[in-house]
Amino acid sequence: MNFIPYGKQSIDQHDIDAVVATLHSDYLTTGPKIKEFEEALSDYCKVNYTVVVANGTAALHLASIALLNEGDKVLTTPNSFLATSNAILYARAKPIFIDIAIDGNIDLDLCEEALKSDPSIKAIYAVAFSGRMVNQSKLKHLKETYNIIVLEDCAHAIGAKEGEIGSASCTNSDVSILSFHPVKHLTTAEGGAITTNSKALYEKLIMLRGHGMVKTPEMKPWEYEMRELGFNYRITDMQCALGLSQLQKLDGFIARRIEIAKRYDTAFENSIVKPLYTYDGKSSYHLYVVQVDFSLLNISKEDLFNQMRAKNIGLQLHYIPINQQPYYKSLGYGNEQTPVMDNYYEQCFSLPMYASLSNEEQEYVIASLFEVING
Ligand SMILES: Cc1ncc(COP(=O)(O)O)c(C=O)c1O
Repeated sequence: MNFIPYGKQSIDQHDIDAVVATLHSDYLTTGPKIKEFEEALSDYCKVNYTVVVANGTAALHLASIALLNEGDKVLTTPNSFLATSNAILYARAKPIFIDIAIDGNIDLDLCEEALKSDPSIKAIYAVAFSGRMVNQSKLKHLKETYNIIVLEDCAHAIGAKEGEIGSASCTNSDVSILSFHPVKHLTTAEGGAITTNSKALYEKLIMLRGHGMVKTPEMKPWEYEMRELGFNYRITDMQCALGLSQLQKLDGFIARRIEIAKRYDTAFENSIVKPLYTYDGKSSYHLYVVQVDFSLLNISKEDLFNQMRAKNIGLQLHYIPINQQPYYKSLGYGNEQTPVMDNYYEQCFSLPMYASLSNEEQEYVIASLFEVING
């Protein structure tokens, strides 16, 4: 069996042809594919504006510079990739880590307690962990009641739905961000996007993506004006051509991910392997996370990872609590009361989940997992 990673891209000839055609075109960057990809993403996510950028971290950075001020307190989750809370620090604001609920997402009831006890809290950065959005009615309630800024990190969740509300639609948030890293649902190699329904925010983000520079029709042909300290977070036309080609297949990719999730759900029924959640129509399944109580087994989590690796299967862990990272500890974090996150971290790991995972490969993963666990 070839190596089976926890996630990888699905690229076909259509994708390759799209990139090659752009290489033959007049524009490798700052060309027509940028806007085309932005408009296609806006259509897909049912949102007014999209700004595509170099990667998901750049999306978080620009959104944070646009939304936050120095010293702002921001509630966020320890259960994410580092980039989510790092972006709060980039804006010289202050992350406050809140425990997770049993679905792996930030506990919005605890967020409400924090908002009640500290009216100076300015924002929530909520991550749609593993592909499932945070509860939208609770998010709406918090946004309206406490008048807070809301950023949804939908890096895991393009295509996810809660009822009529789709991820990155910014129905109950100011901005959402997406990532197009190869392990995500659709890829541009590196790449990301910010979505918003606010024209003012959109215009600011476009400016910040390009050095804070503005060029208007009234200006002389050579003129440009720098109005903010921005960045070069542009994405190339080749990448956007790849993204456009991938986007056409996105619903198919997600349908396949759901099929794989349902097969895992069935395989783990009544076993020691507990899915973080079973299929309920909401997740677009970036990850398939399971939990195992290792105190009931003869092997440690480290043994499990190593023995699965020896069988050519790459497990992954999402995530080490961000507040426990050495850098965050050096800033005084690490002593938060997060019992649900602590227990989750002890037990969780992610199984292979990607559109091109074959049924045969998945059966091999399941059989190998039970073989290793049962010793
Ligand atoms: C939840 C989350 N947010 C943000 C990012 C950053 O995205 P990128 O890797 O495209 O910079 C990631 C990437 O893994 C992520 O998982």
